[in-house]
Amino acid sequence: MVPPALYNGLALNLYTNALKAVTAKAGRKAGKICFRARNTDRWHILEVLDTGIGIPSALHERVFDPLFTTTTNSDRDPLGSGMGLGLALVRRGAEAFGGKAEVIAAPSEYSTCIQIRLPLSES
Ligand SMILES: Nc1ncnc2c1ncn2[C@@H]1O[C@H](COP(=O)(O)OP(=O)(O)OP(=O)(O)O)[C@@H](O)[C@H]1O
Ligand SMILES: [Mg+2]
Repeated sequence: MVPPALYNGLALNLYTNALKAVTAKAGRKAGKICFRARNTDRWHILEVLDTGIGIPSALHERVFDPLFTTTTNSDRDPLGSGMGLGLALVRRGAEAFGGKAEVIAAPSEYSTCIQIRLPLSES
């Protein structure tokens, strides 16, 4: 039901956020970003996980607010400059097709998991 261009946009937004989060985390170990997708009987589920700086649980809803960003400082990091629109658009895009976007608990080896659910049919 979801146009490929929208699906690509959702995935790309989550990817750039994950990339910023792993880049912002200083450390010896390389960062990791994982995409996983599956279908249940009703939903297509896309999850993007990363080992970056993480999102405090108090901000799990606020990150979807338009213009909420922690990445405005772009002095040296070309990825560092954000408008805070990505996740707002991801949620709106998913909801426009009857879906959802939320922060869910990440498995222990990851810091963050963003989950998008898209209905497989209109019923
Ligand atoms: N994977 C993540 N790990 C840690 N923090 C995240 C992650 N994804 C989003 N965030 C937090 O949520 C905020 C909002 O994300 P959002 O994608 O809406 O905006 P942005 O990436 O800052 O800017 P834009 O997407 O408009 O370029 C980010 O600034 C960051 O603080
Ligand atoms: Mg973003």
